[in-house]
Amino acid sequence: MIISCINVLNKQEETSTRVISVDEEENIIQNSTFEDGLNNWSGRGGCKILLHDSMGDGKVVPLIGKAFASATERTQNWNGIQQDVSGRVQRKLAYEVTAVVRIFGSTTPSDVRVTLWVQGQNGREQYIGIANAQATDKDWVQLQGKFLVNGVAAKAVIYVEGPPPGTDILLNRLVVKHAEKLPPSSPPDFQDVLFGVNILQNSNLSDNLNGWFPLGPCTLSTANGSPLILPPMARDSLGTHEPLNGRYILVTNRSQTWMGPAQTITDKLKLNLTYQVSAWVRIGSVKTGPQNINVALGVDSQWVNGGQVEAVDERWYEIGGSFRIENQPSRVIVYVQGPSAGVDLMVAGLQIFPVDRKARFKHLRNLTDKVRKRDVILKISGIDTHNCFEDMISNVVKVRQSKNSFPIGTCISRSTIDNEDFVDFFVKNFNWAVFGNELKWYWTESQQGNLNYNDADELLDLCSKNGIQVRGHCIFWEVPSAVQSWVQNLNKNDLMNAVQNRLNSLLTRYKGKFRHYDVNNEMLHGSFYQDRLGKDIRAFMFKTAHQLDPSPILFVNDYHVEDGADIRATPEKYINHIIGLQEQGAPVGGIGVQGHIDNPVGPVVCAALDKLGTLGLPIWFTELDVSSSNEFVRADDLEVMLREAYAHPAVGGVMLWGFWELFMRNNGHLVDAEGEVNEAGKRFLALKHEWLSHARGPIDDQGEFKFRGFPGTYTIEVDTMTKKFTKTFTVDNGDSPLEVAIEL
Ligand SMILES: *[C@@H]1O[C@H](CO)[C@@H](O)[C@H](O)[C@H]1NC(C)=O
Ligand SMILES: *[C@@H]1O[C@H](CO)[C@@H](O)[C@H](O)[C@H]1NC(C)=O
Ligand SMILES: *[C@@H]1O[C@H](CO)[C@@H](O)[C@H](O)[C@H]1NC(C)=O
Ligand SMILES: *[C@@H]1O[C@H](CO)[C@@H](O)[C@H](O)[C@H]1NC(C)=O
Repeated sequence: MIISCINVLNKQEETSTRVISVDEEENIIQNSTFEDGLNNWSGRGGCKILLHDSMGDGKVVPLIGKAFASATERTQNWNGIQQDVSGRVQRKLAYEVTAVVRIFGSTTPSDVRVTLWVQGQNGREQYIGIANAQATDKDWVQLQGKFLVNGVAAKAVIYVEGPPPGTDILLNRLVVKHAEKLPPSSPPDFQDVLFGVNILQNSNLSDNLNGWFPLGPCTLSTANGSPLILPPMARDSLGTHEPLNGRYILVTNRSQTWMGPAQTITDKLKLNLTYQVSAWVRIGSVKTGPQNINVALGVDSQWVNGGQVEAVDERWYEIGGSFRIENQPSRVIVYVQGPSAGVDLMVAGLQIFPVDRKARFKHLRNLTDKVRKRDVILKISGIDTHNCFEDMISNVVKVRQSKNSFPIGTCISRSTIDNEDFVDFFVKNFNWAVFGNELKWYWTESQQGNLNYNDADELLDLCSKNGIQVRGHCIFWEVPSAVQSWVQNLNKNDLMNAVQNRLNSLLTRYKGKFRHYDVNNEMLHGSFYQDRLGKDIRAFMFKTAHQLDPSPILFVNDYHVEDGADIRATPEKYINHIIGLQEQGAPVGGIGVQGHIDNPVGPVVCAALDKLGTLGLPIWFTELDVSSSNEFVRADDLEVMLREAYAHPAVGGVMLWGFWELFMRNNGHLVDAEGEVNEAGKRFLALKHEWLSHARGPIDDQGEFKFRGFPGTYTIEVDTMTKKFTKTFTVDNGDSPLEVAIEL
């Protein structure tokens, strides 16, 4: 998957040169500011390191202390300055790293990285990327990052690398110390928020164009004839709402794609609050082909996507999106943009309103009961029920669900399973798993013919020992940047052979082991194989996979399908894509919606699921993660997604894309690097708890006990005057009432 750069606001990266003061006692790096010359340091990969008090005719002087080092005569990107820290890095402790660096000898800015190389006791090597930033020859830049070593490290070396050969890396200071715990976030205060109330002025244009201004030299006017109905995705969130009045803004004389109607909303926004965006939009002419239409937020100098659609004809299209601002901006404008210069744009009923997530949760709880629970009749035999009346009363049944069988899984990786705390949380709380990278072709065959299935084998072994089912991710990946270089360099014939070999090798080896396969990841976002091998190759991959191992369900898998913000991956495009594959004979058995989502809004996600649901295939969230620096907001985001998924009848399972800090998306974790469960984790556990059904009561005179519960594993405890009986039973999926015979 690729995390979009759209909501950059959420993912702040500190690269300032504000120097953090350090207690050198805590620093595991020795001679960290070169006060003791080059002692403890060396050049990585045979490059040379030199000590300086200044360089470049005195233009480069140390930011800290009196000296700095340079790595010179570098011939590889990974050449640089290193220190052996073997024996000084403890496993399962989180370390924070800061490095003050710059480059020399090139005026082109370049990526500089801090990396940790670790060798385990079994010889297994691992490279852990800790921090990176663009460095220039103009200023020192401070890189910051964190890392955690899961297994026992026999050897460890930390180094600074990255720029192309010929460019020198300068290092002024490196600090590695046990990471401080971040202060916990406080819950945002949404007391006075008017949920479902539009914050834009004069949305319905009954006051002509008051409040609106043209962004750039385009012309705004109003006209009549837009839809009177509310856009469907807004209906639930807005509650009772009068119909629209049919007035719209017509934008003409657009000489740039970004030109359109705008409003300033700086003072109307509340931080950390999730806003839904809704509008009808239309283009004036389709002569120039499909047009992107986007509700954009200009947040200071950044562009934030509030939802977009692709217009292919001259009708009204619904935009449904969302956004959230987490850091105080100085100016925010909202504007509608996107069509090519010269194409007229029409906008009706643009509304922005905070969403009442709690109200929707109530509705989803009810839906969940309907959709997921099943009536169960326990027919209890083996105890005397024909005794006297008192005995009957005392035959009390207690039913407790110990496990819900709905698939809730997570991504795991080879290094994380060396951490017994990680494994403990994993096996306790998940019944499905997927491997982060270990099954990908670039991992199992990074060099042609050099197969490595060890990591996948070990992960699979852990899962099968714990009764955890596994998705196979992924056989191929259509995005060119995810294709390893030897595959990129093959000619057509050799590529076709390599594809066939990959299928044979993987699916034969693991026959019957994986319950799902993502056959060709992200076909809406890339076309590496299709471009080189033709349109039939995609169906060929599905068909061949099915021949080699008929048992797994074969999935398509893509991102941004559910958030209303990516015109490459709208539900409509995904549907057409799947139908296209099926028409070519591809046995598509499931729809993977990755679910890397920012500021989710229930009705927008649900609308996408409803549309995809028309195909009649199971939908799985395959890589769900959310992100907010505020743990309470993150917990809310996660709850939105899990509740929408579990309440939706077409959804067959949910996989999280990790749960442990540093082994998933930034600001997305449920458990911090050292094992503490945070607010998002607590919310997750609370939902898992809510989704266990319990019941108690007397056995009726038919010897039956009826209840309604989620599929899964149960224990029943029957307490008679004389004896206590305990049995376990399972409730399978199904719509009709289930009769279970309990023989005590
Ligand atoms: C337009 O919206 C305003 C509130 O912003 C409302 O008072 C007015 O009745 C609406 N007019 C129409 C025609 O819907
Ligand atoms: C704006 O567009 C209209 C037609 O859409 C045209 O008549 C008018 O001349 C244009 N004005 C400018 C300033 O380009
Ligand atoms: C949920 O169901 C209960 C009981 O059937 C009902 O009283 C309540 O109004 C429902 N709530 C929502 C939000 O649908
Ligand atoms: C929003 O969340 C951030 C991150 O936790 C926090 O620093 C900030 O105080 C919050 N702001 C409000 C207004 O809740």
